[in-house]
Amino acid sequence: MTNAVRPDSPARGREITVVGIDGAGKSTLATRLHQALNDAGHEAILIGKHRTDVPMDPGLSDYIDRLNALVYRRDPRIAQACGDHYWLLALAAWYTLQDTLVIEPALAAGTHVILDNAHHKILARYAVNPDVSTGLAEQVFSHLTEPDLVFFLRINARDALARKGEFTSLETGHSGGGDEDFIRYQNIVLAKLHEQEQHSGWLSLDVTDMDRDAVFKTAADALADRLQLAI
Ligand SMILES: Nc1ncnc2c1ncn2[C@@H]1O[C@H](COP(=O)(O)OP(=O)(O)OP(=O)(O)O)[C@@H](O)[C@H]1O
Ligand SMILES: [Mg+2]
Repeated sequence: MTNAVRPDSPARGREITVVGIDGAGKSTLATRLHQALNDAGHEAILIGKHRTDVPMDPGLSDYIDRLNALVYRRDPRIAQACGDHYWLLALAAWYTLQDTLVIEPALAAGTHVILDNAHHKILARYAVNPDVSTGLAEQVFSHLTEPDLVFFLRINARDALARKGEFTSLETGHSGGGDEDFIRYQNIVLAKLHEQEQHSGWLSLDVTDMDRDAVFKTAADALADRLQLAI
């Protein structure tokens, strides 16, 4: 056995992740970056909670789709009945399969990965949950591939709500159905994201007064600067 890299193996792809509270503009930026990378001739895939295909492997695609249905496509009664520890571990199972079956093979094949909806927001949610140990939550995600670049889209919860318009019970931490419940809860999540940002290499952007084009332009410049990816 030798560890030598085969001369014909492609350069490893880059993983780019977008982090922020609900309504910060993560999916908008991730979609745009994915499109721009493809338009510029790069191989790139957009990964999120709705993508369940494993290229050229129907068996694994079917399995990951069934896990996705268990985690994301269930009714609120089931969510309540299963409890917080179950959902933490179910989400960790989902993120583990996504990482092992989709992200890692893509990166190894030289394809860039844009990850919308990374686990950081979940960590922030569990950090404000007194019933689940923060250490446990950190540990179940600690083996996931470290992204090459993380964009942290910062906006306060009131402005995020104005962008979103509506929200789910999960997005208030099941604390109520009013705007103030969303704002209180999301501002706590935001503070927890700020804590994760410390000692990280996240690229932090205050997007409060930035339109979609300005956010994209800033992110595109950072891709060129930090990862030498021209788009
Ligand atoms: N820079 C921006 N300025 C104004 N509105 C924006 C901006 N970026 C996104 N939006 C709008 O804000 C709303 C939320 O954006 P988006 O869905 O991208 O957020 P998100 O962070 O993915 O939210 P979620 O966590 O709920 O998935 C959408 O209606 C989107 O069109
Ligand atoms: Mg989104």
